[in-house]
Amino acid sequence: MKEIVPSPPPIVRNDAAAIQSLFQKNVVPSYGRFEIAFSHGAGSYLYDVAGKRYLDLGAGIAVCALGHAPAEITEALVEQSRRLLHVSNLYYHEPQGRLAEAIVKHIAPGKVFFSNSGAEANEGLYKVARKFGHDEGRFEILTAFNSFHGRTLAGLAATGQEKVKKGFEPAVAGFRHIPYNDLEATRAAISPATAAILIEGVQGEGGITPASPEYLLGLRKLCDEKKLLLFMDGVQDGHFRTGCFQSYQRILEGVPGGDKFAPDGISMAKSLGGGFPIGAFWVREPYADLLGPGTHASTFGGTPLGCVVALKVFEVIQRERLADNARSVGEFLKTELNRLAQRYPQIVKGVRGLGLMVGFELAADIPALANNNKPAAIQFVNRLHEAGVLTIPSGNQVIRLLPPLNLRRIEAEEGLKIIESVIAKLAV
Ligand SMILES: Cc1ncc(COP(=O)(O)O)c(C=O)c1O
Repeated sequence: MKEIVPSPPPIVRNDAAAIQSLFQKNVVPSYGRFEIAFSHGAGSYLYDVAGKRYLDLGAGIAVCALGHAPAEITEALVEQSRRLLHVSNLYYHEPQGRLAEAIVKHIAPGKVFFSNSGAEANEGLYKVARKFGHDEGRFEILTAFNSFHGRTLAGLAATGQEKVKKGFEPAVAGFRHIPYNDLEATRAAISPATAAILIEGVQGEGGITPASPEYLLGLRKLCDEKKLLLFMDGVQDGHFRTGCFQSYQRILEGVPGGDKFAPDGISMAKSLGGGFPIGAFWVREPYADLLGPGTHASTFGGTPLGCVVALKVFEVIQRERLADNARSVGEFLKTELNRLAQRYPQIVKGVRGLGLMVGFELAADIPALANNNKPAAIQFVNRLHEAGVLTIPSGNQVIRLLPPLNLRRIEAEEGLKIIESVIAKLAV
């Protein structure tokens, strides 16, 4: 008898227009999306539903640390899901304890709380600061202009960019912004209500701007002097992306006094689970018990599944020396992009970054991008899409490269060639 196979629904037929129409009808339009629908990935490559291949130099905005569909992550997921997907944080399980231990070992004595996202990890830090300052009536957290800390209400208040706050007023109280990399302005901004300072080691959404070593060491001194907590948002720049576990470790490498530096709290997410949603914050020893039983919680925080995957990501990064790879391939990308900036100064104004967190700034007023209402960075990223490379815009002028930590040199060369071809076309 002939088998009658029902025709597959549009989503299985991989019809880009049908997928977009599903979104238009059913998904809240809060994202400005590019016109690409992806179907699958392998290593540093993604494939859209029409079968076009893209070299992914964005990695889900610094998430897919091991690239797409890494076999060991799939195996860890499948194996753990057969054993135990979830148990409430009312109970203990081994993977959460072991993942917390791995994080503590890479920073300094302290403890870890697990969340689902970067914004939620930062929320935990805000609560640590509030508890810390509570009995003295201190609650205020200083954050930097151009920073990004997430889209929850407190995340918007913490973020130093007006565009994310618009329309969501009144802002959550207790956040004020300071100029980044400016110690004197920070000192002047401290008020009797200030409890903490939160900064990114490398501002990601703010255009790939690293903190200077003097700023970090100076902030530590200032926080000690004024009895403030010093927090670092490592959501985007953390997890070996810069060549060290946390970006401050890379920035302070070889700097006198740098080895004694530690912040009081660090938030993480993105690469931590290599694509599986998991976030965390680490808090330094003297403050590690501030959030006692009943003061903070998250149903899905640190599930067995998430923690097993994150442990596997740690294991692969270490075994394959991917921090070293991030350094060497990142340095190669930066050197070559600098070469392009010298060759095409009318298109590329400058290159910044550390490890595999690299940004290049487009020159102002590129004639070929002038008669269009889209920002230059979006137009440039669109041209790269056409040419088969994925990157991430940062603001209106900066293009970010945040590739998988196992990006190979030959893949970096391929990406650079395509980037150069797009630049060369704009230069004629
Ligand atoms: C530095 C930084 N902090 C926090 C966040 C928010 O993370 P999530 O989107 O996981 O909430 C992001 C996201 O881009 C980020 O880059």
